[in-house]
Amino acid sequence: MRISTVVFGGVLLQVVGVLGLRGLVGVRMSSATVPASISSLPTTLSRNSSSSTSSPQITTASSATTDVSRGPSSSNSFSASPSTITSSLGARPPVQKRAAIPACLKTVELSCLNLAANCIDTVNSGTFNNLWGIKSCVAAATCYGVGDLVTSVECQTGFTVTNAAQASLDYNTIYAGIVGSCAFASGGCSITQQNYIDFYYGELTAINSANFPSSNAVVIAFWNAITVWAATGSSVPYLNFNDWLHFSSFPSTTTTTAPPVVSYTQIDWNPNPAPSSGAVSETFVKSTTTVIIAIPTITTTVIVAGTVITLAPGGTPINGPLPSGVSLPGAITPTWNPNIIPPTSVPSVTFTAPPSFTTVVAVPTASNSPPKNITGPPGDKNSNGDDWWLLLFPGIIGGLLPLDIGIPGGVKPTAAPPPGWAGPWSDPDPTSTSTSTNSASASSSASSSSSCPQPTSVYALSDDSENADWQDLGSDPDRRRSTLVPRAGRSISLPNCGISVANGNAIANPNTVNLGAGTYYTIGLKAAGGVNTVLNPIGVGSRPVGNGPNTVNQEHVFELGYIKQYFESLNANGITCAWILNNVYNRAGWDGVTPWALSLLQDIDQAGNPVHPFELLLNLSCLQAVNMVWVDKPLNQAKSNVVNQDKATAADPPQRSNMNSITDVTAGGSSVNLIQDVEYFARNFAALGTYFGNTAATFRATALRIQNRLAQITPATPDVNLPVQFNNWLRGLVATYPNGCTSRANNVFNFYQNKMTTLANQNNGGVVPQCFPLYHTGITAQTFTWQNLIPTAPTLPTCDIPGTEGILQFGINPNGTPEPSVSTFRVLGSGRTDFYALGDGDDFAGDHFIGEDLSAQFAACQGAWDIGLSNGATVPTTDAFLNLNCNGQTGNQVTAGVSFVVNNQVLGCVSINSEVAGGGGLLIYIICSSTTAAATTCANAILQANFPNGNLLTGSLQFIPT
Ligand SMILES: *[C@@H]1O[C@H](CO)[C@@H](O)[C@H](O)[C@H]1NC(C)=O
Repeated sequence: MRISTVVFGGVLLQVVGVLGLRGLVGVRMSSATVPASISSLPTTLSRNSSSSTSSPQITTASSATTDVSRGPSSSNSFSASPSTITSSLGARPPVQKRAAIPACLKTVELSCLNLAANCIDTVNSGTFNNLWGIKSCVAAATCYGVGDLVTSVECQTGFTVTNAAQASLDYNTIYAGIVGSCAFASGGCSITQQNYIDFYYGELTAINSANFPSSNAVVIAFWNAITVWAATGSSVPYLNFNDWLHFSSFPSTTTTTAPPVVSYTQIDWNPNPAPSSGAVSETFVKSTTTVIIAIPTITTTVIVAGTVITLAPGGTPINGPLPSGVSLPGAITPTWNPNIIPPTSVPSVTFTAPPSFTTVVAVPTASNSPPKNITGPPGDKNSNGDDWWLLLFPGIIGGLLPLDIGIPGGVKPTAAPPPGWAGPWSDPDPTSTSTSTNSASASSSASSSSSCPQPTSVYALSDDSENADWQDLGSDPDRRRSTLVPRAGRSISLPNCGISVANGNAIANPNTVNLGAGTYYTIGLKAAGGVNTVLNPIGVGSRPVGNGPNTVNQEHVFELGYIKQYFESLNANGITCAWILNNVYNRAGWDGVTPWALSLLQDIDQAGNPVHPFELLLNLSCLQAVNMVWVDKPLNQAKSNVVNQDKATAADPPQRSNMNSITDVTAGGSSVNLIQDVEYFARNFAALGTYFGNTAATFRATALRIQNRLAQITPATPDVNLPVQFNNWLRGLVATYPNGCTSRANNVFNFYQNKMTTLANQNNGGVVPQCFPLYHTGITAQTFTWQNLIPTAPTLPTCDIPGTEGILQFGINPNGTPEPSVSTFRVLGSGRTDFYALGDGDDFAGDHFIGEDLSAQFAACQGAWDIGLSNGATVPTTDAFLNLNCNGQTGNQVTAGVSFVVNNQVLGCVSINSEVAGGGGLLIYIICSSTTAAATTCANAILQANFPNGNLLTGSLQFIPT
């Protein structure tokens, strides 16, 4: 070992070189790779099932004459005499209808469930207090229970429905229909068991039920429960049956249930022909060339007349359409199955259609059970012209569903190109993503009524102008990219410092990272309506359908704009643009080539592992982005308001100008879509706190990459401690976010509510329709723990920060004089956030202190290290980091105690010197070990063995800034 200090002409020239060559340390990036672990999951996007409005489908009884002169008289205050019972055929306002919401129904025997479903389908704003004027409701009550049926009606309609408020059983249209013409005979007549059985089956037939009771005994049991309650013997008179309908049971709890949702899932769709099952070979023809191969079992390429085709195991051509001119005789071109996929492992499947068709069909229980043949609403046909479809074991749809049939809880497939697909690809089922268009037209025809229109149009609120794209400063790449063609790499602009894309001096990331499989944060689709603000993370395989075209963004959790903001904060604190550009932005990093600006970009736009092995070969940008999630556009807009710190006052809240465009509060008015968009925006804003909380780990991991990157930098002058300042700045910024979320969300809501109230007073008699439910319920804006977003702060010494230059004082020699170094050293950013490094190069990639293990050379030096410069080192060494003892002082002129850190152990250090024979100079060695005492023992052993004339220097090592 030749840590030497050589005297030339009386000047100490220390060659503090250790041992062998180490050369450049190379690029050591802490946390350069972050595993991508977003698994490819089926998409389940909430989406409202089809629903629309129409005129009511009213169950009619035989039209009995209305001049009933006789009938049971009533002494009950709630009942009316038959002659005053109005027919359910009476005029009523236009109503909105929708198919039964399965979540509003309890689980019962299936024939009964169909009756209850038909009942709750049928009830509307004009009839919710006249349930016993609706045949299917009366029939349903007998098997489902009165109280539970009332609860289900309330759940379905959202009206306040009570048993007590119900009108009496309709005598003419229902009771008379049950008992027959004796109803109008003198004294009337009672319901017999046979009457009831006939009524029950008759009503099942009337509603086209797909399910009937398994036996009469089931129905008789329903009846027996009523006769036991009525205690009128084997038959039950009108008054007693009416009493049963009013007093037998009461709703116990009010069920509140979310509207039905239809989920969408994207399925990779490879339209290329594939070998038929059982084929043993595959034939390719191009022009006059025929190539025949065995069906491949691994990914294979074939070359047909010079054209390369990649085949998946099984022989399906992948990665793009078959090259033109190539055909696969005998292969099968797949066809897309657009059917909704029913929920799995359920005993029954519910089919719905607007306006009020609901049928519940039991799933065949065995592979040899006959399929159920189902017919939809009258006249309903699928694209083959059939009016039927099948439900097969174990819950699969056979045939084609008519387009308007929905399956609550089912999953609607939408097609997406398979991973790695390049070249043209056409959607085999373009209608599947345009459901909103279909239902929009359905409801626009109905929206002239006074009923509540369901949200149907695509979310259309424009961005606040303050949120206009950050001009390459960190907004997500969606806004200026097409779906299929990734945009060019992003760059960090520093407009304050004249750095921009427009100026041509912004450093761009040549790599593009796009989000495919990932997490989709959504409160559910706008079409579901309601007041929900629960943000759910959903694993998706690719871009979700969302609220329509261009309504789902790939969002950077930690945005590029933070780098701009950070440098602006330095700027504001007196760090010049020249310093930022020369020391960071344009300065080459440890590899001598890559500017730090590009490394920072890549720390943010980081990709995980290739989703598909070919992506690497084909250089496709399908890598999973580790810092991106899918979000609905309004959530993205809300986040922009907070991170851009704009629209911060109650008078000027986010989306103010769009809210000011509301001119009509009526449910059928011209502002309906706008109001629904504003409510959806406000709900998303309320959920923004949860978004920040849920994505905190991703944010923190990205911020930590930045912090560690900044810790690698050694500026030419020590004007700012980059990683420390970054952590402080980010901490101060993110601490404002929780209030930034809640105050803006509340401002949005309050502004909206005031606007609506004002308009209602002007043009709607002070009434804001219930159709705009958020107005009536308000929001609870969510918050989060901002500290979870912040990486652990650096624990770096507070003095002599990277860029500080000085000398080392090795100790006191036997003459009593300090032994200083002649050459100057520089404190270096080491890439760590606990210790700096020391060297005489420009940065840590250059010459710096390292350690050679002495254990093998000296028995007394177990665990001891010889610390010296890396240049010229010829034996294996380990980086030595600088342990500076600032003694509580700050600033860059602090004489600080020095020891070194090797393998994460803080060592105690001593120095020894030795004259080179013949006045050739002075060798100095720094010896460190677990303690200063152990280092001293080792140093003495070295002196004894190799340098009998050398000395142990006393006192400690110090760094003295120059
Ligand atoms: C289903 O029933 C319809 C009549 O309702 C019939 O035309 C059709 O052939 C049946 N389908 C099957 C596969 O049994």
